[in-house]
Amino acid sequence: MQGIHTIFGAGQVGTQLASILAAQGLRVRLVRRSAPGPRLPGVTWMQGDATDRSFADEACRGASVVYNCANPPDYGHWEGVLQPLYRAVREAAGRAGARLVQLDCLYMYGKPPVSPFDERTPHQPCRDKGRLREELFEELYEAHRRGDVQATSGHASDYFGPATPNAMLLRPDVYERILAGRTLYVLSDPDVPHGYSYTPDVARGLAVLGERPEAVGRPWHLPLASASTSRELLERFAARAGTTIKVRRVPLWALRTVGVFSSLVSAIADMSYQWDVPYVPDDGDFRRTFGIGPTPLDEAIDATLADHRATKAAA
Ligand SMILES: NC(=O)c1ccc[n+]([C@@H]2O[C@H](COP(=O)([O-])OP(=O)(O)OC[C@H]3O[C@@H](n4cnc5c(N)ncnc54)[C@H](OP(=O)(O)O)[C@@H]3O)[C@@H](O)[C@H]2O)c1
Repeated sequence: MQGIHTIFGAGQVGTQLASILAAQGLRVRLVRRSAPGPRLPGVTWMQGDATDRSFADEACRGASVVYNCANPPDYGHWEGVLQPLYRAVREAAGRAGARLVQLDCLYMYGKPPVSPFDERTPHQPCRDKGRLREELFEELYEAHRRGDVQATSGHASDYFGPATPNAMLLRPDVYERILAGRTLYVLSDPDVPHGYSYTPDVARGLAVLGERPEAVGRPWHLPLASASTSRELLERFAARAGTTIKVRRVPLWALRTVGVFSSLVSAIADMSYQWDVPYVPDDGDFRRTFGIGPTPLDEAIDATLADHRATKAAA
């Protein structure tokens, strides 16, 4: 879609999305509060806070599509931070007359009664974070129905990919241990099927939702890279790296004990229920409608490990 494409949030997905859109010849603004990052061809950095109404309006001026890839920096502290952030982006997109593409998660489903679960599976949030995401999800589509904004949302599962420091399982420290063939200590049950999303697929999926007319007015599960168990995925990483690893689970009681002193660990323990039951989003609607699936898994793993090696070599 011609016009300016404004992305709020230059994190794990927003930055990749900016490069994808700029490579299509689109004009891209990439927004965050901290200082601008490295130069990206075709991308204009804007520094400011989305919750500042006049700044958000300036960031969205002339935009045809606004993507919300922002997230509060503290996983242990969403209440009172997430709502104003998401409402501010939604309202600024509405005032600009732009389409809003919301990057979202799966927390609103709670413990899904079936797996794979699709976009029609009832939302039964079972934790505070899920209830918060459900509230914002409902607000988004109510605003769409009222005609305040043309909205769509792309829902991803837990991330892996280049530069995923905030992922639940596959982070740079874990890539490092895989490359070294060391034991991995995971914070949840490794032997239950669980979906993982490859961040370049997530970014590409959002670009599609920003472009295609039929994307508007409903949520979409973005292409899913892996639907096996966490252990199988970690072992596949190790096989591609040419190493052998052991996977051990940190017991929940230990997490809860540390969680008394750390709001981050407490929040992780609270959300570990997602690995208690099979938890695989069905991305069939997206694949059938847009004809796009995920990157082949081994290709995604190789690119992730190559990026980790390159980042380490450059440090
Ligand atoms: N992490 C996962 O595994 C995962 C999986 C599935 C879905 N998701 C969802 O994906 C979405 C994005 O999360 P993420 O983990 O990709 O984000 P992230 O990497 O943590 O990046 C968040 C970005 O938002 C910016 N930001 C935060 N507050 C802002 C504000 N007030 N104004 C402007 N920019 C602001 C941050 O920069 P500054 O701090 O400099 O402003 C940062 O660039 C969230 O909805 C999340 O729930 C995450």
